[in-house]
Amino acid sequence: MKNISAVLFLLVALAATSHATCFRNPLRLLTDDQSSHAECITSPIHLLRPKSGAGGHNVPQINCLSWRLAVETYNLRNWKLVPESCENYVGHYMLGKQYREDCDAVADIAIAYAKNLTLAGDGKEIWVFDIDETSLSNAPYYARSDVQFGAIPYNDTKFNAWVAEGVAPAVPGVLRLYKTLLSLGIKPVFISGTKEVYREVRISNLKNVGYRNWEKLILKGENDTGSAVVYKSNKRTELVEAGYRIVGNIGDQWSDLLGTNVGDRTFKVPDPMYFIG
Ligand SMILES: *[C@@H]1O[C@H](CO)[C@@H](O)[C@H](O)[C@H]1NC(C)=O
Ligand SMILES: *[C@@H]1O[C@H](CO)[C@@H](O)[C@H](O)[C@H]1NC(C)=O
Ligand SMILES: *[C@@H]1O[C@H](CO)[C@@H](O)[C@H](O)[C@H]1NC(C)=O
Repeated sequence: MKNISAVLFLLVALAATSHATCFRNPLRLLTDDQSSHAECITSPIHLLRPKSGAGGHNVPQINCLSWRLAVETYNLRNWKLVPESCENYVGHYMLGKQYREDCDAVADIAIAYAKNLTLAGDGKEIWVFDIDETSLSNAPYYARSDVQFGAIPYNDTKFNAWVAEGVAPAVPGVLRLYKTLLSLGIKPVFISGTKEVYREVRISNLKNVGYRNWEKLILKGENDTGSAVVYKSNKRTELVEAGYRIVGNIGDQWSDLLGTNVGDRTFKVPDPMYFIG
């Protein structure tokens, strides 16, 4: 009852607002028919209006939110660097509450899905977790001035030195998902592109931030070659061939979620800092 009143109140409030300010429906810009909203045509829609510079020329610019959306939806692929003009945007996104809340929203959906599953409870139901930017966050590393949230080219030596410190924090929403899955009897399996030599430090990092039990922690061995999609597909296929059922799969890269045996459902957490194909 309380909820219904709240919704009604919101609807009334929205109706009042739209009468008062007469926002044009932005979707109308995509059609020719603008006649019915003629009284509102003077409202500026900033994103579609080219900015002009001192000489009156259009300033080429990247809309960073559009760029991020293109990244998350996999419309943009194989990109190498965060556009320089979006470094600040990505930094604010990653360190601000939007990133956290976006991850929480993904976790909420994944938890609702998991709780609704009819489980066999035979110990063979697993959930695949990626590690970097999924279970653990490298945001403290990416925030460094010599990394600039991915606006500076990736440096393997530098990144591995950070991994070896073993101090990456958990992504809070994903840790919450992890704990819920354990309580439901779904076993976590980590599959990461991290090399085997970092196994011990990764284990201590995971344990220190709250990931304490798992069925398997699969890292990249000396004979694991090929793209991330091929590597992760091979590892998931080995799991399925060993009798496991992948009920869910969560990662920040599309290469975590594409390929073979991806699982009954996949979940994508945001990552506007780098692309792994
Ligand atoms: C819960 O499971 C039922 C039966 O499989 C399905 O129809 C429904 O869409 C599920 N709901 C959610 C939130 O996943
Ligand atoms: C990568 O980082 C290391 C350690 O900071 C540095 O010595 C090296 O010059 C860097 N490589 C490139 C290509 O920038
Ligand atoms: C990698 O392959 C080589 C050659 O087949 C083999 O000798 C070695 O044991 C393999 N390494 C691992 C970790 O499986």
